This record gives sequence, C-alpha cells and structure tokens, in this order.
Amino acid sequence: MKPPLPSSSSSNYNVLRKPRLSPYLFTLLAFIVFVVILYGEDFMCIFGQLEPLPGRPISAAKKKMKKLPFAIGKTEEGCDVFSGRWVRDESTRPLYEESECPYIQPQLTCQEHGRPDRDYQYWRWQPHGCDLPRGGVPAAAAAAAWLEVSFNATLMLETLRGKRMMFVGDSLNRGQYVSMVCLLHRNIPEHAKSMETSGSLTVFTAKDYNATIEFYWAPFLLESNSDDAVVHRIADRIVRKGSINKHGRHWKGVDILVFNTYLWWMTGLDMKILKGSFDDEEKEIVKLSTEDAYRMAMKSMLRWVKLNMDRKKTRVFFASMSPSHAKSIDWGGELGKNCYNETTLIEDENYWGSDCRRSIMEVIGEVFSHSKYPITFLNITQLSNYRKDAHTSIYKKQWNPLTPEQKANPFSYADCVHWCLPGLQDTWNELLFAKLFYP
Ligand SMILES: *[C@@H]1O[C@H](CO)[C@@H](O)[C@H](O)[C@H]1NC(C)=O
Ligand SMILES: *[C@@H]1O[C@H](CO)[C@@H](O)[C@H](O)[C@H]1NC(C)=O
Ligand SMILES: *[C@@H]1O[C@H](CO)[C@@H](O)[C@H](O)[C@H]1NC(C)=O
Ligand SMILES: *[C@@H]1O[C@H](CO)[C@@H](O)[C@H](O)[C@H]1NC(C)=O
Repeated sequence: MKPPLPSSSSSNYNVLRKPRLSPYLFTLLAFIVFVVILYGEDFMCIFGQLEPLPGRPISAAKKKMKKLPFAIGKTEEGCDVFSGRWVRDESTRPLYEESECPYIQPQLTCQEHGRPDRDYQYWRWQPHGCDLPRGGVPAAAAAAAWLEVSFNATLMLETLRGKRMMFVGDSLNRGQYVSMVCLLHRNIPEHAKSMETSGSLTVFTAKDYNATIEFYWAPFLLESNSDDAVVHRIADRIVRKGSINKHGRHWKGVDILVFNTYLWWMTGLDMKILKGSFDDEEKEIVKLSTEDAYRMAMKSMLRWVKLNMDRKKTRVFFASMSPSHAKSIDWGGELGKNCYNETTLIEDENYWGSDCRRSIMEVIGEVFSHSKYPITFLNITQLSNYRKDAHTSIYKKQWNPLTPEQKANPFSYADCVHWCLPGLQDTWNELLFAKLFYP
C-alpha cells in the first residue's frame, strides 16, 4: 500500500509575500512587542489557563520555544501526530523480526510462545493531519526512500554519541526500552554492544558510539515498597511522599529521559502514602485519592527535572497511560472474555476502555501545563486503545506452571497489559523519534 505523498509545508514559505507595513502599524506592532516582553510572564499565565493543543509539548504550546535540543526540523504546524489511524502495511512492517532481536524478554516474545498469527505486526500509524517525518531527509527524498520508514537508526545512534538515554518507569516502559534497543542494535556489530542488568538498572552499551540506552525500574517514580526490580508483586502498595531523589540520583547526567508511570497506581480508588521513612518504626500512612497521589508524584518529578536537567542540552519525555484490554464488554464483546484470541483492531475512533482513567489524563495535562522545563508529552493512550490485538495474551513465558483449570480456560491467564515485540511499542518509539527530532 502506498502512502499519500508527504506535503511539504516548508516550501510554502517561498510563496508568502513580504507584507508592506505602514509606519502606524509598525509603531503599534513595536508597542505590542514591547508590552509582551515586559509582561511576558503574565501573558504566559493567561495562556497557561487555556487548554494546550493536544499532542504538542505542552509547555512549548504555552511559551514560544526556541529550538529544542536535538531538533532538526518541525512537525507540520497544528498536526497532532498522536491523532490518526492504523494502516495495514505489509511492505514496511515489522521494523525488525522477533527472532533477530536477542534482547526481548521471554515475557514479550509472542511468536516463540506459540502465537498462531502475525497480524499484529503489520500496522503503521498514520496521523490524520500529516505524515510522520521520515528519518531526517527532505520530504521529496523521503517519499522515494519510503521503505526506510520514519525511524532512522543511524541518525538516532549518531545523536546518542557520547550520550545517555534512559527510560524510567514500569514494565511497560521497559517494553518501549527494549523496542528501542531492537530498533538500533542491527546497526551495531556484535562485538561492540552489550546489555547488563544490575538491580534496578539495565544498560545497553553501544561501545563505538560511547552511548548507553538504559532502563531504570521505578514503577511509581517515587520510592515505594514495590521497588525491587524482581520481587515486587506486593498487593498492599505504599508510596513515600517527597522521595523522588531516592531514585532520581540514578538519573543524573542523562541526556534524554523517558518517563512513564500509571499502572501501579491503579489499585483502587485511593493510594497509601507514607510520610517519613520506610525505616521508621511507627509509620505514618495516609490515604489519598489516586488522582491526588498521582498529582503529587507528577509534581515531584517535574521539580526534579527542573532542578537536575538543563533545558538547553537535554530532553525529557513523558509517556501517557498504556491501556489494558481485560474486558471484552468494553468493545462490545462477550462478558468474561478479554484480549485472548483478538486479532483485529477496535474501529470506534472514540473508543476508551473502562480500565483507562480519563481523570489521570486530566491530571497529566494540568500538571504539565505549569511546567517550566519543556516536557515532551507522548500521548500514546488513544492510539494504543485501538490495539486489543497487540497484547502478549497467553503467548509468553509464564511465571508459574499453569494449573489444569487455567489450561482449560485461556481467558483466565491471558496478559492483556503487556505488548508483543515487535509490535505496538515500536510505534511509540517512532513517535518518540518524531518528537525528538521534529518537535
Ligand atoms: C538517516 O540518517 C542519516 C544521518 O543523518 C542520513 O545520512 C540518512 O540519509 C538517513 N536515512 C534515511 C533513509 O532517512
Ligand atoms: C563517553 O560518554 C560519557 C557520557 O555518557 C562522557 O562523560 C565521556 O566523556 C565519553 N567518553 C569519551 C571517550 O568520549
Ligand atoms: C477465537 O476466534 C475465532 C475467530 O474469531 C473463533 O472462531 C473461536 O471460537 C475463538 N476461540 C475462542 C476460544 O474463543
Ligand atoms: C491525549 O490524547 C487524547 C485523545 O487524543 C486527548 O483526549 C487527551 O486530552 C490528550 N491528553 C493531553 C494531556 O493532551
């Protein structure tokens, strides 16, 4: 299937005629510029109250940003790359083969674990308003080089030379991390790469580039009783207030940070918050609504970013909620069923599952609109909502041997949270790529 030709907005500039300014108009304009500079902060406050344009770096919509670090171009004005549709594309997908990327954990290798179809691997994301930028070449050349698709591993690796990129968050963010490594590793010879895990930190090293791509396990970003990277299945989750530095000290010096946090907050209507320390004999624990607790963590994260990241040299991304597909009835299926045996996409453009809290999206939007550091928001929720077909389901390594009852009913143990690789999360990285180089 051939994509539509990319429209080149940059060439439109040539057509613009120079406006002739009357002296009065000029004076008026000069005055307006003067006032805006003088009271810039106030204007920003006023604009800060407005809804940010979806899909834009939220604070960049608020402040007319100078060029962001790593930017080599711009996404077409007004195009929200997160709003679009899935297009079946057997000629350019998947972006790599499952068997060719040794870094995928056995929890995500669906083919190896017997998934009978490969349908989920052949979808390409097509934004409504524009095309995703093509790997750093002019639009005309890109149309010819369509097979090279939007993710350019060479450009990414060159950009990471002498740098550190780190993903921080939960297992869903780890999936995106592994996808990133899979997208890049083909460009690196066998002897010049390695991956090592020690405690909460996993580091992939591209030796010739002196570059690392890392993953740091911190499912709440803040300190919690679920921080052990291996043993963290704790029913009664507790998060410690004001503890971002506990993990944050491991993120210092990173050039590109990618955060996520969501799933672990979903334990009910409220969260247990610890004041003081986990070592205190008498622990003071209060309950906060999930939204308030999440807001607290977002604010801590932003404060950490403001204090520790240099907006002239570094970039910070935040990925929104990864949706689950645990209830068929959400998309008109049968009661008691879930993502198991699903091989098609949800077609209702406004579909939003019952597990995915809009209130959390509102908290994210609200907190980020006040950020001083320009966080780039990866709004992957809606586009992932359509992908009930893309979960690992029963095709993964099981933690425990299955019981006969489970075997008899695959719906009972299907994983409708995590995603097969290659698959959906490669698209998250194409969008990360697009926003890194073409914010
Ligand atoms: C990928 O990026 C490299 C480095 O910027 C560039 O030379 C190359 O032409 C790009 N390839 C494609 C297909 O976009
Ligand atoms: C390698 O990269 C690190 C940053 O990750 C930097 O501090 C160091 O100077 C680099 N070394 C060389 C030899 O370029
Ligand atoms: C799986 O889906 C196929 C086709 O949609 C259907 O025929 C079959 O009954 C389903 N299997 C289960 C166990 O639901
Ligand atoms: C993310 O996208 C969804 C749907 O496209 C939209 O409803 C939501 O407001 C966006 N979130 C933010 C914080 O911009």
